[in-house]
Amino acid sequence: MKGGREVILERCSAATARAPLLELPDPFARIAPSEAALAVCRVVKRYGRVTAVEGVSFAVRRGEIFGLLGPNGAGKTTLVRMLTTLTRPTVGELFVGGESVSKNPVAVKKLIGAVPQVNNLERELTGRENLVLHALLHRMPRRDRERRITELLEYVGLAHRADDRVQDYSGGMARRLLIARALLHQPSILFLDEPTIGLDPQTRRKIWDLIQALNREGVTVFLTTHYIEEAESLCHRVGIIDHGKLIVLGTPRELKERLGAFCVEFFGGEGTRRVFFPTRQDAKAYASTLSGDITVRRTNLEDVFVELTGREIQGG
Ligand SMILES: Nc1ncnc2c1ncn2[C@@H]1O[C@H](COP(=O)(O)OP(=O)(O)O)[C@@H](O)[C@H]1O
Ligand SMILES: [Mg+2]
Repeated sequence: MKGGREVILERCSAATARAPLLELPDPFARIAPSEAALAVCRVVKRYGRVTAVEGVSFAVRRGEIFGLLGPNGAGKTTLVRMLTTLTRPTVGELFVGGESVSKNPVAVKKLIGAVPQVNNLERELTGRENLVLHALLHRMPRRDRERRITELLEYVGLAHRADDRVQDYSGGMARRLLIARALLHQPSILFLDEPTIGLDPQTRRKIWDLIQALNREGVTVFLTTHYIEEAESLCHRVGIIDHGKLIVLGTPRELKERLGAFCVEFFGGEGTRRVFFPTRQDAKAYASTLSGDITVRRTNLEDVFVELTGREIQGG
């Protein structure tokens, strides 16, 4: 599929009806309305002359962990900000829990929790105080507040540090507090924008465990990432985004198998070359015809990105 692009074409009507919006022609994106946690429909977002998101359509199933994978500047945060009511699309419409985000932002806010890319906790306050502040801002009933906050601090493993100031927290602890804060009002859909950015591998794994535990309890998760391993090991389905366009969508396995599940990597001519095969046997047979430094390995999502864009995801 070298050079080929699976653009998710839209057939969304601009009508307010929910059902037709979810019938996307891509087989991997076709989701029954009753199964959809959210839908993005022909969305364009421009900031002056910059087009941050350019005609994106897809839907996410209830109960799945969906990942939007793409390099810096691809439009991930912009999409999350539109889905979480923080900014409006220039063109198109977004639906969360069957509600139009632009027409019914208050209903959408009740359904969602959001962990922003940038830590916006109050550093001078303790972890517990941050949660109380958020609960007050969201008019959470007093009787629920204390119990829920204590439960959540326990859940994210911060009970022992709850009364320390956030400025003394590690990056991983701050992330966990942000997750607890997003969960205060028991959202059914959780958005996490680059949940493990800048964290070490061990801390990253703890955040993954937390996300998986939440998902097992029924929370739909929508996350963005530029980490290949995060998309591969955590997400049920992944959409790859580049320059504001969704270039492919599917389970990590589907995406890799469309390319060929095994990769022969070798130095050829100007640089590293990669050739893909459906089986390890085929890959090995090909490798045996080559000489020099040759690697036979499983295909990964980085390969998918490189094949579709000609660039590496993390190279900037
Ligand atoms: N508020 C804004 N004003 C102007 N340009 C913006 C704004 N927000 C994002 N952009 C631009 O839109 C593009 C996508 O940004 P963003 O959604 O933050 O990407 P990502 O989260 O994938 O790194 C970038 O070119 C970025 O500079
Ligand atoms: Mg971002």
